Amino acid sequence: MTEGSVALIVLAAGQGSRMLSDLPKVLHRLGGVPLVAHALAAGRTLEPEQVIVVAGHGGEAVAKAVAKFDPDAQIAMQHEQLGTGHAVAQALPLLEGFEGRVVVLYGDTPFIGADTLAALASHTADVVVLGFEAADPGRYGRLVVKGGALDRIVEFKDADAATRGIALCNSGVMAADAGLLRDLVGRLGNDNAAGEYYLTDVVALARAAGRSAAVVTCDEAETLGINTRAELAAAEAQFQTRKRAEALEDGVTMADPGTVWLALDTVVGRDAIIGQNVVFGPGVTIESGAEILPFCHLEGCHVSAGATVGPFARLRPGAELGGDVHVGNFVEVKNSVLDEGVKVGHLTYLGDAHIGERANIGAGTVTCNYDGVGKHRTEIGADAFIGSDTMLVAPVRVGARAMTGSGSVITEDVPDDALGLGRSRQVTKAGLGTRIMQALRAAKEKR
Ligand code: UD1
Ligand code: CA
Repeated sequence: MTEGSVALIVLAAGQGSRMLSDLPKVLHRLGGVPLVAHALAAGRTLEPEQVIVVAGHGGEAVAKAVAKFDPDAQIAMQHEQLGTGHAVAQALPLLEGFEGRVVVLYGDTPFIGADTLAALASHTADVVVLGFEAADPGRYGRLVVKGGALDRIVEFKDADAATRGIALCNSGVMAADAGLLRDLVGRLGNDNAAGEYYLTDVVALARAAGRSAAVVTCDEAETLGINTRAELAAAEAQFQTRKRAEALEDGVTMADPGTVWLALDTVVGRDAIIGQNVVFGPGVTIESGAEILPFCHLEGCHVSAGATVGPFARLRPGAELGGDVHVGNFVEVKNSVLDEGVKVGHLTYLGDAHIGERANIGAGTVTCNYDGVGKHRTEIGADAFIGSDTMLVAPVRVGARAMTGSGSVITEDVPDDALGLGRSRQVTKAGLGTRIMQALRAAKEKR
Protein backbone atom coordinates (compact mmCIF):
# COMPACT_ATOMS: atom_id res chain seq x y z
CA MET A 1 0.00 0.00 0.00
CA THR A 2 1.15 3.50 -0.68
CA GLU A 3 1.28 6.21 1.92
CA GLY A 4 -0.02 9.70 1.22
CA SER A 5 -2.22 10.77 -1.58
CA VAL A 6 -1.74 9.88 -5.23
CA ALA A 7 -2.98 11.50 -8.41
CA LEU A 8 -2.88 9.73 -11.73
CA ILE A 9 -2.18 11.16 -15.18
CA VAL A 10 -2.83 8.85 -18.13
CA LEU A 11 -1.32 10.01 -21.43
CA ALA A 12 -3.61 9.15 -24.30
CA ALA A 13 -3.37 11.96 -26.83
CA GLY A 14 -1.26 10.22 -29.46
CA GLN A 15 -2.73 9.21 -32.77
CA GLY A 16 -1.14 5.80 -32.96
CA SER A 17 -0.43 6.19 -36.65
CA ARG A 18 0.95 2.66 -36.96
CA MET A 19 -2.50 1.25 -36.18
CA LEU A 20 -3.60 2.64 -39.59
CA SER A 21 -6.95 3.49 -38.06
CA ASP A 22 -9.54 6.24 -37.84
CA LEU A 23 -10.10 5.17 -34.25
CA PRO A 24 -7.76 6.74 -31.66
CA LYS A 25 -5.28 4.07 -30.57
CA VAL A 26 -6.42 3.93 -26.94
CA LEU A 27 -9.98 3.09 -28.05
CA HIS A 28 -9.00 -0.13 -29.77
CA ARG A 29 -10.34 -2.95 -27.67
CA LEU A 30 -8.43 -5.36 -25.50
CA GLY A 31 -10.27 -7.76 -23.24
CA GLY A 32 -13.58 -6.31 -24.39
CA VAL A 33 -12.78 -2.76 -23.26
CA PRO A 34 -10.81 0.16 -24.73
CA LEU A 35 -7.06 -0.02 -24.15
CA VAL A 36 -7.18 3.08 -21.98
CA ALA A 37 -9.54 1.30 -19.55
CA HIS A 38 -6.72 -1.13 -18.68
CA ALA A 39 -4.33 1.65 -17.65
CA LEU A 40 -7.15 3.29 -15.69
CA ALA A 41 -8.02 0.06 -13.89
CA ALA A 42 -4.36 -0.54 -12.99
CA GLY A 43 -3.99 3.07 -11.81
CA ARG A 44 -7.18 2.84 -9.73
CA THR A 45 -5.53 0.19 -7.54
CA LEU A 46 -3.48 3.07 -6.09
CA GLU A 47 -6.75 4.62 -4.90
CA PRO A 48 -5.84 7.98 -6.43
CA GLU A 49 -7.49 11.17 -5.26
CA GLN A 50 -7.72 12.40 -8.83
CA VAL A 51 -7.42 10.78 -12.25
CA ILE A 52 -6.72 12.82 -15.36
CA VAL A 53 -6.65 11.47 -18.88
CA VAL A 54 -4.81 13.59 -21.44
CA ALA A 55 -6.69 13.24 -24.73
CA GLY A 56 -5.95 14.75 -28.11
CA HIS A 57 -6.48 12.69 -31.26
CA GLY A 58 -10.16 11.78 -31.28
CA GLY A 59 -10.39 13.55 -27.95
CA GLU A 60 -14.19 13.62 -27.79
CA ALA A 61 -14.47 9.88 -28.44
CA VAL A 62 -11.76 9.22 -25.85
CA ALA A 63 -13.57 11.41 -23.32
CA LYS A 64 -16.80 9.49 -23.95
CA ALA A 65 -15.15 6.11 -23.47
CA VAL A 66 -13.39 7.27 -20.32
CA ALA A 67 -16.70 8.57 -18.92
CA LYS A 68 -18.18 5.12 -19.43
CA PHE A 69 -15.40 3.07 -17.84
CA ASP A 70 -14.16 5.55 -15.24
CA PRO A 71 -16.82 8.21 -14.65
CA ASP A 72 -14.76 10.05 -12.02
CA ALA A 73 -11.78 10.61 -14.31
CA GLN A 74 -11.21 14.12 -15.67
CA ILE A 75 -10.11 14.94 -19.19
CA ALA A 76 -7.38 17.40 -20.17
CA MET A 77 -7.17 18.22 -23.87
CA GLN A 78 -3.83 18.37 -25.61
CA HIS A 79 -4.69 19.92 -28.95
CA GLU A 80 -1.22 19.55 -30.45
CA GLN A 81 0.95 16.57 -29.56
CA LEU A 82 4.19 18.31 -28.68
CA GLY A 83 5.59 15.53 -26.54
CA THR A 84 5.04 13.59 -23.33
CA GLY A 85 6.24 16.52 -21.19
CA HIS A 86 3.82 18.85 -22.93
CA ALA A 87 1.06 16.29 -22.39
CA VAL A 88 1.69 16.22 -18.64
CA ALA A 89 1.73 20.03 -18.63
CA GLN A 90 -1.86 20.00 -19.94
CA ALA A 91 -3.00 17.90 -16.97
CA LEU A 92 -1.24 19.85 -14.22
CA PRO A 93 -3.70 22.78 -14.03
CA LEU A 94 -6.39 20.27 -13.03
CA LEU A 95 -4.14 19.21 -10.16
CA GLU A 96 -3.82 22.71 -8.73
CA GLY A 97 -3.59 22.50 -4.98
CA PHE A 98 -2.78 18.77 -5.02
CA GLU A 99 0.33 18.12 -2.97
CA GLY A 100 0.85 14.34 -3.07
CA ARG A 101 2.52 12.01 -5.51
CA VAL A 102 1.73 12.16 -9.23
CA VAL A 103 1.94 8.91 -11.18
CA VAL A 104 2.11 9.10 -14.97
CA LEU A 105 0.91 6.14 -17.05
CA TYR A 106 0.45 5.60 -20.79
CA GLY A 107 -2.99 4.78 -22.16
CA ASP A 108 -1.48 2.34 -24.66
CA THR A 109 0.38 0.26 -22.06
CA PRO A 110 -2.19 -2.11 -20.59
CA PHE A 111 -0.27 -4.68 -18.54
CA ILE A 112 1.34 -2.71 -15.70
CA GLY A 113 0.72 -4.72 -12.54
CA ALA A 114 -0.79 -3.39 -9.33
CA ASP A 115 2.24 -4.51 -7.27
CA THR A 116 4.60 -2.70 -9.62
CA LEU A 117 2.58 0.49 -9.39
CA ALA A 118 2.45 0.25 -5.60
CA ALA A 119 6.26 -0.15 -5.46
CA LEU A 120 6.68 2.84 -7.75
CA ALA A 121 4.24 5.08 -5.90
CA SER A 122 5.61 4.28 -2.45
CA HIS A 123 9.28 4.82 -3.34
CA THR A 124 10.69 7.80 -1.50
CA ALA A 125 12.96 9.31 -4.19
CA ASP A 126 11.79 12.66 -5.56
CA VAL A 127 11.45 11.26 -9.07
CA VAL A 128 10.93 7.53 -9.64
CA VAL A 129 10.99 5.93 -13.08
CA LEU A 130 9.75 2.47 -13.95
CA GLY A 131 12.46 0.72 -15.96
CA PHE A 132 12.99 -2.72 -17.40
CA GLU A 133 15.80 -4.79 -18.87
CA ALA A 134 14.82 -5.05 -22.52
CA ALA A 135 15.58 -8.22 -24.49
CA ASP A 136 15.80 -5.93 -27.51
CA PRO A 137 16.14 -2.30 -26.34
CA GLY A 138 15.26 -1.02 -29.84
CA ARG A 139 14.09 2.59 -29.76
CA TYR A 140 13.24 2.87 -26.08
CA GLY A 141 14.67 5.69 -23.98
CA ARG A 142 17.73 4.52 -22.01
CA LEU A 143 18.12 4.91 -18.26
CA VAL A 144 21.56 6.18 -17.30
CA VAL A 145 22.39 5.10 -13.76
CA LYS A 146 25.39 6.59 -11.93
CA GLY A 147 26.53 5.55 -8.47
CA GLY A 148 23.34 3.58 -7.94
CA ALA A 149 21.05 6.55 -8.66
CA LEU A 150 19.20 7.48 -11.82
CA ASP A 151 21.15 10.26 -13.51
CA ARG A 152 19.12 10.95 -16.66
CA ILE A 153 17.03 9.43 -19.42
CA VAL A 154 18.31 9.65 -22.96
CA GLU A 155 15.89 9.19 -25.82
CA PHE A 156 17.03 6.77 -28.51
CA LYS A 157 17.14 9.51 -31.14
CA ASP A 158 19.46 11.58 -28.97
CA ALA A 159 21.66 8.72 -27.72
CA ASP A 160 25.23 8.04 -28.75
CA ALA A 161 26.44 4.50 -29.47
CA ALA A 162 27.57 3.89 -25.89
CA THR A 163 24.20 4.99 -24.46
CA ARG A 164 22.35 2.89 -27.00
CA GLY A 165 24.29 -0.04 -25.60
CA ILE A 166 22.43 0.29 -22.29
CA ALA A 167 19.75 -2.39 -21.86
CA LEU A 168 17.91 -0.68 -18.97
CA CYS A 169 14.99 1.09 -20.66
CA ASN A 170 12.32 3.61 -19.77
CA SER A 171 8.79 2.20 -19.60
CA GLY A 172 7.36 5.73 -19.59
CA VAL A 173 5.74 5.24 -16.19
CA MET A 174 6.95 7.78 -13.68
CA ALA A 175 6.14 9.09 -10.20
CA ALA A 176 7.10 12.42 -8.69
CA ASP A 177 5.97 14.90 -6.08
CA ALA A 178 3.33 17.21 -7.48
CA GLY A 179 5.11 20.42 -6.57
CA LEU A 180 8.42 19.28 -8.03
CA LEU A 181 6.77 18.01 -11.19
CA ARG A 182 5.00 21.34 -11.71
CA ASP A 183 8.31 23.16 -11.39
CA LEU A 184 10.28 20.79 -13.63
CA VAL A 185 7.66 20.40 -16.36
CA GLY A 186 7.45 24.18 -16.53
CA ARG A 187 11.14 24.27 -17.34
CA LEU A 188 11.22 21.63 -20.11
CA GLY A 189 12.60 22.67 -23.48
CA ASN A 190 12.29 21.04 -26.87
CA ASP A 191 15.84 21.38 -28.11
CA ASN A 192 16.34 17.72 -29.05
CA ALA A 193 16.31 15.36 -32.00
CA ALA A 194 12.51 15.13 -32.07
CA GLY A 195 11.79 18.79 -31.29
CA GLU A 196 9.43 17.60 -28.54
CA TYR A 197 8.96 18.41 -24.88
CA TYR A 198 10.22 15.18 -23.33
CA LEU A 199 8.82 14.20 -19.94
CA THR A 200 11.97 12.12 -19.57
CA ASP A 201 14.04 15.31 -19.19
CA VAL A 202 12.59 15.93 -15.73
CA VAL A 203 15.08 13.39 -14.37
CA ALA A 204 18.18 15.39 -15.38
CA LEU A 205 16.48 18.63 -14.26
CA ALA A 206 15.68 17.11 -10.86
CA ARG A 207 19.25 15.89 -10.42
CA ALA A 208 20.64 19.28 -11.42
CA ALA A 209 18.44 20.84 -8.74
CA GLY A 210 19.92 18.48 -6.16
CA ARG A 211 16.85 16.26 -5.95
CA SER A 212 16.96 12.45 -5.94
CA ALA A 213 15.91 10.10 -8.73
CA ALA A 214 15.58 6.32 -8.70
CA VAL A 215 14.60 3.40 -10.89
CA VAL A 216 12.08 0.75 -9.93
CA THR A 217 12.24 -2.20 -12.30
CA CYS A 218 9.59 -4.58 -13.53
CA ASP A 219 9.26 -7.42 -15.97
CA GLU A 220 9.40 -6.35 -19.60
CA ALA A 221 6.00 -7.97 -20.25
CA GLU A 222 4.33 -5.39 -18.00
CA THR A 223 5.60 -2.50 -20.09
CA LEU A 224 4.35 -3.84 -23.39
CA GLY A 225 2.96 -0.96 -25.43
CA ILE A 226 0.54 -1.42 -28.31
CA ASN A 227 1.58 0.23 -31.57
CA THR A 228 0.24 -2.03 -34.34
CA ARG A 229 -2.71 -4.33 -34.97
CA ALA A 230 -0.36 -7.30 -34.74
CA GLU A 231 0.76 -6.16 -31.29
CA LEU A 232 -2.87 -5.66 -30.30
CA ALA A 233 -3.73 -9.21 -31.36
CA ALA A 234 -0.71 -10.60 -29.53
CA ALA A 235 -1.65 -8.61 -26.42
CA GLU A 236 -5.20 -9.97 -26.61
CA ALA A 237 -3.87 -13.52 -26.67
CA GLN A 238 -1.67 -12.79 -23.64
CA PHE A 239 -4.53 -11.12 -21.81
CA GLN A 240 -6.89 -14.04 -22.45
CA THR A 241 -4.32 -16.60 -21.35
CA ARG A 242 -3.84 -14.77 -18.07
CA LYS A 243 -7.53 -14.14 -17.43
CA ARG A 244 -8.45 -17.78 -18.12
CA ALA A 245 -5.73 -18.98 -15.76
CA GLU A 246 -7.04 -16.62 -13.07
CA ALA A 247 -10.58 -17.98 -13.52
CA LEU A 248 -9.36 -21.56 -13.20
CA GLU A 249 -7.37 -20.63 -10.09
CA ASP A 250 -10.50 -19.02 -8.65
CA GLY A 251 -12.41 -22.30 -8.93
CA VAL A 252 -14.28 -21.85 -12.20
CA THR A 253 -14.82 -24.97 -14.32
CA MET A 254 -14.06 -24.51 -18.02
CA ALA A 255 -14.20 -27.49 -20.34
CA ASP A 256 -12.04 -25.80 -22.96
CA PRO A 257 -10.58 -22.58 -21.53
CA GLY A 258 -8.91 -21.65 -24.81
CA THR A 259 -12.32 -21.08 -26.40
CA VAL A 260 -13.67 -18.83 -23.64
CA TRP A 261 -13.15 -15.08 -24.11
CA LEU A 262 -13.14 -12.93 -21.02
CA ALA A 263 -13.23 -9.17 -20.52
CA LEU A 264 -11.13 -7.04 -18.20
CA ASP A 265 -13.94 -6.81 -15.65
CA THR A 266 -15.50 -10.27 -16.02
CA VAL A 267 -16.37 -11.73 -12.62
CA VAL A 268 -17.10 -15.46 -12.44
CA GLY A 269 -17.85 -17.06 -9.09
CA ARG A 270 -16.42 -20.25 -7.73
CA ASP A 271 -18.00 -23.47 -9.00
CA ALA A 272 -19.54 -21.71 -11.96
CA ILE A 273 -19.34 -23.83 -15.12
CA ILE A 274 -18.46 -22.22 -18.43
CA GLY A 275 -18.93 -24.27 -21.57
CA GLN A 276 -16.97 -24.09 -24.80
CA ASN A 277 -17.02 -21.01 -27.01
CA VAL A 278 -18.50 -18.52 -24.60
CA VAL A 279 -17.72 -14.83 -25.12
CA PHE A 280 -17.88 -12.30 -22.28
CA GLY A 281 -18.16 -8.63 -23.22
CA PRO A 282 -17.66 -5.97 -20.57
CA GLY A 283 -19.66 -5.79 -17.36
CA VAL A 284 -20.58 -9.43 -16.72
CA THR A 285 -20.96 -11.05 -13.31
CA ILE A 286 -21.67 -14.76 -13.02
CA GLU A 287 -22.41 -15.94 -9.51
CA SER A 288 -21.16 -19.13 -7.95
CA GLY A 289 -22.70 -22.28 -9.28
CA ALA A 290 -24.34 -20.76 -12.34
CA GLU A 291 -23.80 -22.58 -15.62
CA ILE A 292 -23.20 -21.03 -19.03
CA LEU A 293 -23.57 -23.67 -21.71
CA PRO A 294 -21.59 -23.53 -24.97
CA PHE A 295 -21.86 -20.76 -27.58
CA CYS A 296 -23.23 -17.90 -25.53
CA HIS A 297 -22.51 -14.18 -25.82
CA LEU A 298 -22.88 -12.11 -22.65
CA GLU A 299 -22.44 -8.42 -22.02
CA GLY A 300 -23.42 -6.05 -19.18
CA CYS A 301 -25.43 -8.70 -17.35
CA HIS A 302 -25.73 -10.47 -14.03
CA VAL A 303 -26.43 -14.19 -13.70
CA SER A 304 -27.35 -15.41 -10.21
CA ALA A 305 -26.49 -18.66 -8.51
CA GLY A 306 -28.20 -21.73 -9.88
CA ALA A 307 -29.14 -20.12 -13.19
CA THR A 308 -28.44 -21.90 -16.48
CA VAL A 309 -27.90 -20.04 -19.73
CA GLY A 310 -27.67 -21.40 -23.26
CA PRO A 311 -26.49 -23.12 -25.32
CA PHE A 312 -26.65 -20.32 -27.93
CA ALA A 313 -28.08 -17.58 -25.74
CA ARG A 314 -27.39 -13.86 -25.84
CA LEU A 315 -27.53 -11.70 -22.73
CA ARG A 316 -27.26 -8.01 -23.47
CA PRO A 317 -26.74 -5.02 -21.18
CA GLY A 318 -29.22 -4.82 -18.33
CA ALA A 319 -30.09 -8.52 -18.34
CA GLU A 320 -30.56 -9.50 -14.68
CA LEU A 321 -31.15 -13.19 -14.09
CA GLY A 322 -32.32 -14.22 -10.64
CA GLY A 323 -31.58 -17.50 -8.91
CA ASP A 324 -32.41 -20.70 -10.75
CA VAL A 325 -33.54 -18.87 -13.86
CA HIS A 326 -33.31 -20.92 -17.03
CA VAL A 327 -32.54 -19.18 -20.32
CA GLY A 328 -32.32 -21.67 -23.15
CA ASN A 329 -31.25 -21.80 -26.76
CA PHE A 330 -31.71 -18.87 -29.14
CA VAL A 331 -33.00 -16.58 -26.44
CA GLU A 332 -31.99 -12.92 -26.31
CA VAL A 333 -32.49 -10.86 -23.16
CA LYS A 334 -31.88 -7.10 -22.99
CA ASN A 335 -32.52 -4.63 -20.15
CA SER A 336 -34.84 -7.06 -18.42
CA VAL A 337 -35.13 -8.48 -14.93
CA LEU A 338 -36.02 -12.16 -14.68
CA ASP A 339 -36.98 -12.98 -11.12
CA GLU A 340 -36.13 -16.23 -9.40
CA GLY A 341 -37.16 -19.40 -11.16
CA VAL A 342 -38.25 -17.87 -14.48
CA LYS A 343 -38.04 -20.25 -17.43
CA VAL A 344 -37.52 -19.01 -20.94
CA GLY A 345 -36.41 -22.03 -22.83
CA HIS A 346 -36.42 -21.36 -26.55
CA LEU A 347 -36.39 -18.84 -29.40
CA THR A 348 -37.42 -15.75 -27.51
CA TYR A 349 -36.69 -12.04 -27.28
CA LEU A 350 -37.20 -10.28 -23.97
CA GLY A 351 -36.39 -6.55 -24.02
CA ASP A 352 -37.30 -3.86 -21.46
CA ALA A 353 -39.28 -6.35 -19.42
CA HIS A 354 -39.80 -7.50 -15.89
CA ILE A 355 -40.74 -11.16 -15.48
CA GLY A 356 -42.08 -12.22 -12.11
CA GLU A 357 -41.01 -15.31 -10.18
CA ARG A 358 -41.51 -18.73 -11.74
CA ALA A 359 -43.22 -17.33 -14.84
CA ASN A 360 -42.88 -19.58 -17.88
CA ILE A 361 -42.23 -17.95 -21.22
CA GLY A 362 -43.21 -20.17 -24.15
CA ALA A 363 -41.09 -20.73 -27.24
CA GLY A 364 -41.12 -17.95 -29.77
CA THR A 365 -42.34 -15.22 -27.42
CA VAL A 366 -41.38 -11.68 -28.37
CA THR A 367 -41.65 -8.48 -26.37
CA CYS A 368 -42.43 -5.96 -29.11
CA ASN A 369 -40.70 -3.20 -27.17
CA TYR A 370 -39.91 -0.75 -29.96
CA ASP A 371 -42.52 1.13 -31.97
CA GLY A 372 -40.04 2.77 -34.29
CA VAL A 373 -39.63 5.80 -32.06
CA GLY A 374 -39.60 4.84 -28.39
CA LYS A 375 -39.00 1.80 -26.20
CA HIS A 376 -41.79 0.47 -23.99
CA ARG A 377 -41.97 -1.91 -21.07
CA THR A 378 -43.55 -5.30 -20.62
CA GLU A 379 -44.56 -6.49 -17.15
CA ILE A 380 -45.29 -10.13 -16.49
CA GLY A 381 -46.49 -11.21 -13.06
CA ALA A 382 -45.30 -14.11 -10.92
CA ASP A 383 -46.38 -17.60 -12.04
CA ALA A 384 -47.74 -16.32 -15.33
CA PHE A 385 -47.77 -18.68 -18.31
CA ILE A 386 -47.01 -17.07 -21.65
CA GLY A 387 -48.11 -19.34 -24.48
CA SER A 388 -45.74 -20.12 -27.33
CA ASP A 389 -45.46 -17.49 -30.02
CA THR A 390 -47.02 -14.70 -27.99
CA MET A 391 -46.33 -11.18 -29.24
CA LEU A 392 -46.40 -8.83 -26.26
CA VAL A 393 -46.97 -5.38 -27.75
CA ALA A 394 -45.52 -3.01 -25.16
CA PRO A 395 -46.40 -1.15 -23.06
CA VAL A 396 -48.38 -4.08 -21.74
CA ARG A 397 -48.87 -6.01 -18.53
CA VAL A 398 -49.77 -9.65 -17.98
CA GLY A 399 -50.81 -10.23 -14.38
CA ALA A 400 -49.77 -12.79 -11.83
CA ARG A 401 -50.91 -16.37 -12.60
CA ALA A 402 -52.39 -15.15 -15.90
CA MET A 403 -52.04 -17.01 -19.20
CA THR A 404 -51.82 -16.01 -22.82
CA GLY A 405 -52.96 -18.34 -25.59
CA SER A 406 -50.35 -19.56 -28.07
CA GLY A 407 -50.01 -17.33 -31.08
CA SER A 408 -51.62 -14.37 -29.36
CA VAL A 409 -50.83 -10.79 -30.13
CA ILE A 410 -51.35 -9.19 -26.73
CA THR A 411 -52.05 -5.48 -27.07
CA GLU A 412 -54.13 -4.98 -23.93
CA ASP A 413 -53.28 -5.73 -20.31
CA VAL A 414 -54.26 -9.17 -19.00
CA PRO A 415 -55.41 -8.98 -15.36
CA ASP A 416 -54.18 -11.35 -12.65
CA ASP A 417 -55.49 -14.92 -13.05
CA ALA A 418 -57.04 -14.18 -16.48
CA LEU A 419 -56.47 -15.76 -19.88
CA GLY A 420 -55.59 -13.37 -22.70
CA LEU A 421 -56.37 -14.60 -26.20
CA GLY A 422 -55.54 -12.44 -29.18
CA ARG A 423 -55.77 -14.60 -32.29
CA SER A 424 -58.46 -15.49 -34.83
CA ARG A 425 -60.70 -18.46 -34.15
CA GLN A 426 -59.83 -21.68 -35.99
CA VAL A 427 -62.08 -22.84 -38.84
CA THR A 428 -62.24 -26.60 -39.66
CA LYS A 429 -63.65 -27.91 -43.00
CA ALA A 430 -64.33 -31.63 -43.17
CA GLY A 431 -62.63 -33.45 -46.08
CA LEU A 432 -61.13 -30.32 -47.59
CA GLY A 433 -57.51 -31.33 -46.85
CA THR A 434 -57.67 -34.44 -49.03
CA ARG A 435 -59.58 -32.68 -51.81
CA ILE A 436 -57.00 -29.93 -52.11
CA MET A 437 -54.16 -32.49 -52.28
CA GLN A 438 -55.87 -34.44 -55.04
CA ALA A 439 -56.52 -31.30 -57.06
CA LEU A 440 -52.88 -30.26 -56.75
CA ARG A 441 -51.58 -33.70 -57.83
CA ALA A 442 -53.91 -33.77 -60.84
CA ALA A 443 -52.74 -30.32 -61.92
CA LYS A 444 -49.10 -31.45 -61.68
CA GLU A 445 -49.68 -34.58 -63.86
CA LYS A 446 -51.22 -32.47 -66.64
CA ARG A 447 -48.14 -30.25 -66.84
C1 UD1 B 1 8.33 7.30 -24.69
C2 UD1 B 1 9.51 7.75 -23.84
C3 UD1 B 1 10.61 6.71 -23.94
C4 UD1 B 1 10.11 5.37 -23.51
C5 UD1 B 1 8.88 4.98 -24.32
C6 UD1 B 1 8.25 3.73 -23.74
C7 UD1 B 1 9.50 10.19 -23.85
C8 UD1 B 1 10.11 11.43 -24.41
N1 UD1 B 1 9.96 9.05 -24.32
O1 UD1 B 1 8.78 7.32 -26.04
O2 UD1 B 1 11.70 7.10 -23.10
O3 UD1 B 1 11.12 4.39 -23.65
O4 UD1 B 1 7.89 6.01 -24.27
O5 UD1 B 1 7.22 3.31 -24.56
O6 UD1 B 1 8.65 10.30 -22.99
N2 UD1 B 1 1.57 11.16 -25.80
C9 UD1 B 1 0.69 12.21 -25.58
N3 UD1 B 1 0.99 13.42 -26.09
C10 UD1 B 1 2.14 13.68 -26.75
C11 UD1 B 1 3.05 12.61 -26.94
C12 UD1 B 1 2.73 11.38 -26.45
O7 UD1 B 1 -0.36 12.03 -24.98
O8 UD1 B 1 2.33 14.82 -27.16
C13 UD1 B 1 1.24 9.83 -25.27
C14 UD1 B 1 1.05 8.80 -26.35
O9 UD1 B 1 -0.32 8.72 -26.73
C15 UD1 B 1 1.52 7.53 -25.68
C16 UD1 B 1 2.58 8.02 -24.70
O10 UD1 B 1 2.32 9.38 -24.49
O11 UD1 B 1 0.51 6.88 -24.95
C17 UD1 B 1 3.99 7.81 -25.19
O12 UD1 B 1 4.18 8.52 -26.38
P1 UD1 B 1 5.08 7.96 -27.56
O13 UD1 B 1 5.10 8.95 -28.63
O14 UD1 B 1 4.67 6.59 -27.89
O15 UD1 B 1 6.50 7.94 -26.82
P2 UD1 B 1 7.79 7.19 -27.32
O16 UD1 B 1 8.42 7.95 -28.41
O17 UD1 B 1 7.49 5.77 -27.56
CA1 CA C 1 5.45 4.38 -27.86
